[in-house]
Amino acid sequence: MEDIDQEDLSPQVIEHARRPRNKGILPVYNAEGRITGPCGDTMAFWLEVRDGMVKNASFYTTGCGASLACGSMATCLVRGMSVATAASLSQKDILDALGGLPPETEHCALLAANTMRAACENYLDNGR
Ligand code: FES
Repeated sequence: MEDIDQEDLSPQVIEHARRPRNKGILPVYNAEGRITGPCGDTMAFWLEVRDGMVKNASFYTTGCGASLACGSMATCLVRGMSVATAASLSQKDILDALGGLPPETEHCALLAANTMRAACENYLDNGR
């Protein structure tokens, strides 16, 4: 978050950007989603789903510190959710959980939400 004044960031954003949770591909997964956003950054999620529930989730991003925080928080939020509920995780859900982001980086949460939905649809589309 080099280009943003840290005073503008919530403690949750700083924590998840500095120490992202669940970063990197899962050793075992049965759904994945990958989207390159209009900003040119790519985000990916991997999900391990058992009995329709998200047991494990991980992410990767080529993007900024805000996208690290959003990907990290999204993986934390969906753990234990049904896939259908995880698919409806919204930009607002991620922003709320992070205590907000500066307006110029709010789109990073949209990229995370869209990519999470893609990963869930990957699971659901395969008829699992
Ligand atoms: Fe592209 Fe944050 S600027 S994901």
